[in-house]
This record gives sequence, structure tokens and C-alpha cells, in this order.
Amino acid sequence: MIKKPIGVFISGRGSNLESIINACKDENFPAKVVCVFSDNANAEGLQFASKNNIDTHTLDLNNFEDKGHYEEGILKLLKPYNIELICLAGYMKIITDKLINSFPNRIINIHPSLLPKFKGLNTHQRALDAQEVESGCSVHYVNSKVDDGKIIMQTSVAIEKTDNADTLSKKVLKAEHELYPASIIKLLRK
Ligand code: GRF
Repeated sequence: MIKKPIGVFISGRGSNLESIINACKDENFPAKVVCVFSDNANAEGLQFASKNNIDTHTLDLNNFEDKGHYEEGILKLLKPYNIELICLAGYMKIITDKLINSFPNRIINIHPSLLPKFKGLNTHQRALDAQEVESGCSVHYVNSKVDDGKIIMQTSVAIEKTDNADTLSKKVLKAEHELYPASIIKLLRK
């Protein structure tokens, strides 16, 4: 199978990046991570990428005049890789139209809630406060609004009476690690 080149954007821990890189090791997985980008040079996930011989790049927004110039810098870095899909995985910067229009319908994100519920941060505590009986995670296309684009796949997770934000986040994260590779298969295995 010819693997399609993909890029992953992170800002921190990178456990979803890890699950994607590990999924790519299967010869039947339709993608290969060819580069990892981070806005944060100290993102832990960069080390896992390097250990797997994947190119990593970082750019600090503070060194650019504005977000537009920053994203131009990112586009320049990505150009040689001819990537098919950008996977945001815990990437904490809001993406603007400059990047979105350069990769139409080719930027996706994972969010730890059953969208459209609980966009933004602190999703698990908010789900508990709202006395939800289930939560979960969503992979969706990225548009210029936060956590807003069309949903590609979702997994739900039951909320038990004993759950707190920490236990719920662990259960959802486990589901994320299955959902992100499954969504990439859905989009790229054609
Ligand atoms: C995940 O919960 C993801 O859904 C959210 O940010 C977190 C990133 O975790 N967007 P990691 O860096 O992949 O471990």
C-alpha cells in the first residue's frame, strides 16, 4: 500500500501523536507521518517523533510580526513534504484562513468531547458539571471557528457516578488514541 504523507501539529505531551505514529507502523495503515510541527520547542511529543526518525520543526509566534506571517512560515516548512493531511493533536494555536485555505478540507483536529457539546477547554469538568451520562471524543474538520467544523468520527464513553475530571480524561484519552488513527483510515483509505 502506498502511504500518504501526513503532518501532525502538537503543542505539548503528544500522546495522540504517539498513537498516530504507532498506527503508521502497520503496513496496511494508509498514512505515514513525515513531519511534526510545534509552536512550542519544549513540547514533549517532539522527542517521540525524533526517536522515530521523523522530522520535527518548531516556530515561535513571538518571532513573527503577526499570525499571518507565522502561518506563512509554517507553509514554507511544510512545502517540501507534499502532505495530504494535517492532523492537529493538542495544538493550542487557533488556525487562521491562511492555513485553512492552503489545505482545504485537509486539516483535522481531535477534541475531547462529543461535539458540538463542550467546545474549548476544561471539557471534562464541564461535562461532569452538566451531569452528562456520557462524554467522549470527536475528530472533525478544522474551520476558522474553534472546535466547529464537520464531524468525521466520534466515540462515546460512559460517565460513572464515581468519575472526576481526572478519571474521565483518562478514559476519553484512551478512546482518542483509537479514534484518531481510525479517522485517518476513514479519510485516506480510498
Ligand atoms: C487531547 O485531549 C486532545 O483531544 C486535545 O488536547 C489533548 C492533547 O493531548 N485537543 P496529547 O498532547 O495528544 O497527549
